[in-house]
Amino acid sequence: MRFQGRCAVVTGGGGGFGKAFAEALAAEGCNVVLADVNQDRLEQNAAAINQAGGGKALAVVCDVTSGEAVQAMAAQAVESFGSLDILINNAGGSMGVPRDTIDQVKEDDWDRVVDLNFKGAFLCTRAAAGYMKKAGYGKIVNLSSITARMGGQLTPVQYVSAKGAVISFTRHVAQELGPFGINVNAVAPGIVLTGERLEKMWYGRKSEQQRQDYLDQIPLRRLGTPREISDAVLYLCSDQASFITGVTLDVNGGMFSA
Ligand SMILES: NC(=O)c1ccc[n+]([C@@H]2O[C@H](COP(=O)([O-])OP(=O)(O)OC[C@H]3O[C@@H](n4cnc5c(N)ncnc54)[C@H](O)[C@@H]3O)[C@@H](O)[C@H]2O)c1
Repeated sequence: MRFQGRCAVVTGGGGGFGKAFAEALAAEGCNVVLADVNQDRLEQNAAAINQAGGGKALAVVCDVTSGEAVQAMAAQAVESFGSLDILINNAGGSMGVPRDTIDQVKEDDWDRVVDLNFKGAFLCTRAAAGYMKKAGYGKIVNLSSITARMGGQLTPVQYVSAKGAVISFTRHVAQELGPFGINVNAVAPGIVLTGERLEKMWYGRKSEQQRQDYLDQIPLRRLGTPREISDAVLYLCSDQASFITGVTLDVNGGMFSA
């Protein structure tokens, strides 16, 4: 029970990783605020956690690209559970924008994807940092991606660039918040089939041979599971990782290692 009585905000809590992270935290006694724009999935995930009987789950509809909505969500977390100890900046994705060549990328597609994957992490970190500094305690984990390390074989440039920015943001904020007892790290997963969106990308855009060629580039010869990413995220949120800050942990079967 590493997180008994703590409060965690998991953005993108209606999605595949968000569900895995929130369930794993709640199973170890953590109260979780699931923040997402998808109300149905959000409420389903929160209900499943509340039925399981560990930490409590609260579903909050929140667009992480809106500073006002994010401030209100963070305040609601503190009001409901008494503190905001853990923030997992997980909301993200490539929003179905086309994987255009750089000379064709639309400005609007650029803004939308960068706002979701990068500005969202900034706004949520800004909202949580005040509470964490006051408490002298905090754990922040940002979701980057293997594409930030290697370029996007399947994903568009906007997504790759935003996930790269998340790595620099993590390093900077770790330096700034370290003196307040706050650890800030990132996890960069390889491809994990978390649901329909990822399955479409993996099965829809690649032939069987292309999929095999991709797997052949992974030393462990397979895709990861949500559980394997969740184990890494929870480790960084735990006291076992108390002296680790500013790092990006690559969780990808060995396809890229820093
Ligand atoms: N699955 C993978 O292979 C993989 C690999 C590397 C990184 N990641 C990153 O992990 C994170 C989660 O990915 P996933 O696979 O669970 O995807 P997912 O699509 O299942 O979950 C993403 C969630 O973010 C929510 N969301 C979208 N826009 C939002 C907004 N403006 N405000 C709040 N929530 C919003 C969506 O509704 C969805 O529930 C993302 O940041 C993704 O980029 C995923």
